[in-house]
Amino acid sequence: MVLPEHIAVIMDGNGRWAQRRMLPRAAGHRAGMKRMLSLTEHIFGLGIPYCTLFALSAENLSRPKEELDELFELIRIYFTEQIGPLRRAGIALRVVGDCMLLPAATRKVIEEGVRAASDGAKGTLALAIGYGGRQDIVSAAEKLAEAGAQITLESFRESLSTGGMPAVDLLIRTGKEKRLSNFLLFESAYAELVFSDKLFPDFTCRDLDRALSEYAKRERRYGKIET
Ligand code: FPP
Repeated sequence: MVLPEHIAVIMDGNGRWAQRRMLPRAAGHRAGMKRMLSLTEHIFGLGIPYCTLFALSAENLSRPKEELDELFELIRIYFTEQIGPLRRAGIALRVVGDCMLLPAATRKVIEEGVRAASDGAKGTLALAIGYGGRQDIVSAAEKLAEAGAQITLESFRESLSTGGMPAVDLLIRTGKEKRLSNFLLFESAYAELVFSDKLFPDFTCRDLDRALSEYAKRERRYGKIET
C-alpha cells in the first residue's frame, strides 16, 4: 500500500467529546492527548517519516484563560514526559508556529524539549503550537525580504516554519468540520484531504488505517493529465 511521506492531522472535537459526557472541556483535551500518543506511535510504527499535528492555533490563543491554562499544562506534561520515549524511538521533535505568542514558562519547556529531541533517524514529529498558516506565510516573506534573498518556490518553502519537511501528502481532520482552519496552507497545496466525523478522542488507529487506505486509492495528478 502506498503510504504518505508526510501526514498532518487537525485534532478537532475535544471540547464536544467532553461536553457530550458532561465533563469540562479540559477532560476532552486530556483524552485528546492520550489519543495523540497512540496515533503518533502508530504512524511512526508504520514507517511514515513526517507527521504534523495541529495542537494549538494562533487563533485558539484567544480562548478563555481557564482552557488555555489547561492546554499549557498539557503541553508542559507532553514536553517533560515524552522526550525520552521520542528519543528512544528515534523521532525528532519540532514545533511549528510562533512560540512568542505563548507564556514564557511554556516557551521555556518547549525550547528545552525540542533541544533535547532535535535528532531522530526514524522520523520527525512537528507540533503546531501558536500556529497560523497565513501568519507563517507572511513571516517567511518577511524573512526572505530582510535577507534580500531571491523568492522562489524552494526558498519560500524553506523559510516557512515547516522548512526542511516535505509537502503534506495526507491531511486528516477529525470532528466533522470540513475546512482547513489556517493549517499548513502552503504545505497542503496538493494534499489529499480526509475528513472524519469522529471527535478526536474517539479517532482510533483503525480509523487512521482507513484514512490511509483511502489515501492509497486516490490518484494524485498534481494538475497534470495522463499521457
Ligand atoms: C481542538 O478541539 C483541539 C485543540 C484546540 C487542542 C488540541 C490539544 C490536544 C490534542 C492535546 C494537547 C496537545 C499537546 C501538544 C500536548 P476543540 O477544543 O476545538 O474541540 P471542539 O471543536 O469540539 O470545541
